[in-house]
Amino acid sequence: MTSFDERAATWDDPMKTERAARVARVIGEAVPLSPSVRLLEYGAGTGLVTQALGDRIGPVALADTSSGMRGVMAEKVATGTLPADARIWAVDLSTDPPPDDRFDLVVTVLTLHHIPDLAPVLAAFAALLDDGGHLCVADLESEDGSFHGEGFHGHHGFDRAELAAQIEAAGFGPVEFRDCGSVERPDGTYPMFLATAVRA
Ligand SMILES: C[S@@+](CC[C@H](N)C(=O)[O-])C[C@H]1O[C@@H](n2cnc3c(N)ncnc32)[C@H](O)[C@@H]1O
Repeated sequence: MTSFDERAATWDDPMKTERAARVARVIGEAVPLSPSVRLLEYGAGTGLVTQALGDRIGPVALADTSSGMRGVMAEKVATGTLPADARIWAVDLSTDPPPDDRFDLVVTVLTLHHIPDLAPVLAAFAALLDDGGHLCVADLESEDGSFHGEGFHGHHGFDRAELAAQIEAAGFGPVEFRDCGSVERPDGTYPMFLATAVRA
């Protein structure tokens, strides 16, 4: 059982719900949304960001490697909190081939910093998006490692220019950045960005 499995049942709280609403609002300011937009949310957790996007988007697939998180999303589908036709995927694009499907929008929030080698994941996003589709990455700005503490093997946030170069190398056009609020912790404030790019 991973720490995300253990935290899934109590993941949703007012702070995370407000954060998801904020991220969804900034995404709505950055990329076109409509009920015909096919969305993949990658590392969706309990699906809070998809919930916040609501009827501004169309058919949705929610991917997460945590069975606990997927279980919470399945309950939300059953109770109507997430759309009845939402698909829930157990896929890890850092190791698995991308599913044979196509999307107009890929959203990933506070997930990429958990994945040491981003290249296969970004390439999979490019493969899953139709030409002209949009990628939205909301994550932490570079931080001093205190966000996860010792023993964490992911990224200590991201340097904007370095992440932009990686996204563009995976088959995307120029990356634009917006400020996207912050994660507030007793030990400090961790600013977030939203990076957007179009599948070239
Ligand atoms: C910090 S949580 C964010 C969850 C959600 N995006 C949110 O904003 O509430 C990171 C999520 O990424 C998932 N995750 C971690 N590594 C992953 C990977 N390689 N592929 C897909 N999901 C992953 C975790 O299971 C977890 O649900």
